[in-house]
Amino acid sequence: MNTLDELVEQARAAFAAAGAPAALENEKARFLGKTGSVTELLKGLAKLAPEEKRVRGAQINAAKEAIERLLAERRRALADAELDARLALESIDVTLPGRKRSAGGIHPVIRTWMRVEEIFRSIGFDVADGPEIETDWYNFTALNNPENHPARSMQDTFYVDAKDSEGKPLLLRTHTSPMQVRYARMHKPPIKVIAPGRTYRVDSDATHSPMFHQVEGLWIDEQISFADLKGVYTDFLRRFFESDDLRVRFRPSFFPFTEPSAEIDMMFTSGPKKGQWLEISGAGQVHPAVVRNFGLDAERYIGFAFGSGLERLTMLRYGVDDLRLFFEGDLRFLQQFN
Ligand code: DAH
Repeated sequence: MNTLDELVEQARAAFAAAGAPAALENEKARFLGKTGSVTELLKGLAKLAPEEKRVRGAQINAAKEAIERLLAERRRALADAELDARLALESIDVTLPGRKRSAGGIHPVIRTWMRVEEIFRSIGFDVADGPEIETDWYNFTALNNPENHPARSMQDTFYVDAKDSEGKPLLLRTHTSPMQVRYARMHKPPIKVIAPGRTYRVDSDATHSPMFHQVEGLWIDEQISFADLKGVYTDFLRRFFESDDLRVRFRPSFFPFTEPSAEIDMMFTSGPKKGQWLEISGAGQVHPAVVRNFGLDAERYIGFAFGSGLERLTMLRYGVDDLRLFFEGDLRFLQQFN
């Protein structure tokens, strides 16, 4: 092999060894650059005789062209490889399953809350909202539940590390009943309102949760009687459960803020829970002492109140038998309602 052929072979090997465009350009300079080996050979021609110069010049030029061809080939190969690598990296595997974005849903207890609002609004009740941290006066005293009265111990209470203006500790409201007083003191009769919301007690088992929901109802005017309570509440239950196949009874009970007081029981006359009396709500005629705390004349104004558990209504409507399921956040449970 003559030296020119060797030079071409060296260039082939050097270009092949260059793994990236920048390295290849450096190799190019070694052969074809201003001080590259081919350039040096061409410079050497000057010293030769004209005849020799012509023959030798043609040989060197042929070698130079061969090296340029090799360079162009290698450049293309490197560019192709780079493109292939990029394509491989950015390729999308259309056979992979898509990433699902699941839709949120409404919690079953909130569904009940919304249904209750809708039903009561349709018969002219206002809907009110109030604080979950209450004063002792609104939660107990104003509701005819004085300090040291044994009725207070019906409710185990969460107290807050802060005091109200009377120096009494604030508490998480144990029921929605304080909203009767708050609302009545801000409105003139006729007062016709429900107040759904969160309530808190130190209580936890299959049917009690430390946080739960109630809806309070209050209707006060000059002629509102226990008969109106029966009518309104029975109609509410029939609409809530979408069934006329249910019976309602009012069982004597005690609450400090009502007199007389009742537990409302209901019974389905068809379906899986048929024939069983189920406790659904506390209720009663508002006690005159409470009417006075509303800022009203108890000789003139009279009416009823009720307080029902939203979890209880939800459990009966959907046949859920453990209340804790509502608060565990298990999607397998919650998805069934959406
Ligand atoms: N506040 C009562 C409780 O949580 C429920 C209740 C009973 C509310 C009778 C009322 C009522 O408005 O009249 O146990």
